[in-house]
Amino acid sequence: MRDRVNRVVLIGTGAVGSSYAFALLNQGVTEELVLVDLNKEKSEGDAMDLNHGITFAPSPTKIWFGNYSDCKDADIVVICAGANQKPGETRLDLVEKNINIFKGIVNEIVSNGFQGIFLVATNPVDILTHAVWKFSGFPKERVIGSGTSLDTARFRFLLGEYFDIDTRNVHAYIIGEHGDTELPVWSHADIAGKKISDWMNAEGNFKQDDLDAIFLNVRDAAYHIIERKGATYYGIAMALVRLTKAILQNENSVLTVSAYLNGEYGHKDVYIGVPAVVNRKGIRQIVELDLDEDEQQKFNHSVEVLKNTMAPFF
Ligand code: 2OP
Repeated sequence: MRDRVNRVVLIGTGAVGSSYAFALLNQGVTEELVLVDLNKEKSEGDAMDLNHGITFAPSPTKIWFGNYSDCKDADIVVICAGANQKPGETRLDLVEKNINIFKGIVNEIVSNGFQGIFLVATNPVDILTHAVWKFSGFPKERVIGSGTSLDTARFRFLLGEYFDIDTRNVHAYIIGEHGDTELPVWSHADIAGKKISDWMNAEGNFKQDDLDAIFLNVRDAAYHIIERKGATYYGIAMALVRLTKAILQNENSVLTVSAYLNGEYGHKDVYIGVPAVVNRKGIRQIVELDLDEDEQQKFNHSVEVLKNTMAPFF
């Protein structure tokens, strides 16, 4: 890994990938950004278009349309390639198609000498992160999925709106599959150090039903957006930029990523969304929350669904 200039290689410049590139440039996170996609014309066009905005960015980023050989000197390879959900499809419906696409992609990246950190966003993200780990042979710490980072952001946004408090003062996590079996960790949710339940008790106008509705809104957010505009991309793109920053700037930030469990939360051999400390080396450690019984059961169910879904492939 070079430590002089940060390079991110982005594989897949569809709606999520190009939104990520745009957000990355706007936040001045990396010195080099390489776009790789089968659709050469589109990616070349993206590189040109993005380059024309550099004058307005907080710091310069060198952007070009490249190929897998650019992975050799990359610090992070971000994978956004693959099929995405159509209206009515679940994330798990995409598994077979995208695992096959990933076999070829990961092989190209690794055979070109990549030694950095994989960041995976394609769905079903937990299983595809597992696939990257398997196909690459990399240590588990250097393979990270976007996991429930976006779901946690959606949760914090909606809770912030409900209690009328800045979302940055809301500390609450969504864990589990990035998908239909995810769960909120209410037992550890607080706003400015005060438990959500204490806010509820202190102020009579907050209701449990509203909190339940907030979680359902989070869980089903992608469906609601896909019904309206066909795809989701801005939110996930910004979550990926946040993760990229945590890695490149060695932040030791706690983010709910898809991480490999090796006994944590009572499970092994599965990538799933949990809070984890992220830094320049990847995942430094998983933060193990003391879940209550109901949360642990829901988490177990989420693990089971992921394991059953990926069993035919690994
Ligand atoms: C999202 O949650 C579709 O996984 C994507 O926005």
